[in-house]
Amino acid sequence: MFKIAVLISGNGTNLQGIIDSIKNKYLNCKIYSVISDNKDALGIKRAKFNNIPVFIVDKKIYGKELSNRILNILDEKVDLIVLAGFLSILKGDILNKFKNKIINIHPSLIPYFCGEGMYGIKVHEKVLKEGAQISGATVHFVDKGIDTGAIILQRAVAVNKNDTKETLQRRVLIEEHKLLPKVIKLISENRVIVKEKSVFIK
Ligand code: GRF
Repeated sequence: MFKIAVLISGNGTNLQGIIDSIKNKYLNCKIYSVISDNKDALGIKRAKFNNIPVFIVDKKIYGKELSNRILNILDEKVDLIVLAGFLSILKGDILNKFKNKIINIHPSLIPYFCGEGMYGIKVHEKVLKEGAQISGATVHFVDKGIDTGAIILQRAVAVNKNDTKETLQRRVLIEEHKLLPKVIKLISENRVIVKEKSVFIK
């Protein structure tokens, strides 16, 4: 069985989307564990409610050792690491050991509105500030940079004239909840080929 770990920092609605996709048999995989870098993340409750083992790797406690601690927990245990609203930046050995086996979801159309400091509601705020007419969601592989790895799939969302950052965030999240399970499914079926920055779906 294809095994994944889901890393979170907050609400965990994307985690919930994965849990639901497993329950309704869209995904044929198992969540080996949920890891949170924030002990108060709401997503921890979602995991516990579904009997998924939770590891809290508090970034305030682990600091620079955070990535190594996560590697210790997951090494040889999972086929894929899914960053679903995970705010810490993974560094060091874990990136080599899990090369092309870590994915992240970002709430904009990369390479726009992404990079350092661009996360959560800030992304949608900036989209509105710049007057962009299209936003969306991106799932990409994780490399050394911030939001720079090969793009796997994207979904566009139209920006409405009367959008607030919250209404835009809500519509983008609806797409995220479909996009992330879709990418996990494709990878679990061995249908994603990556060559440097290009991704091909078989
Ligand atoms: C999502 O928009 C995700 O793309 C971003 O942070 C948000 C987290 O949402 N990285 P949730 O914790 O899955 O509800």
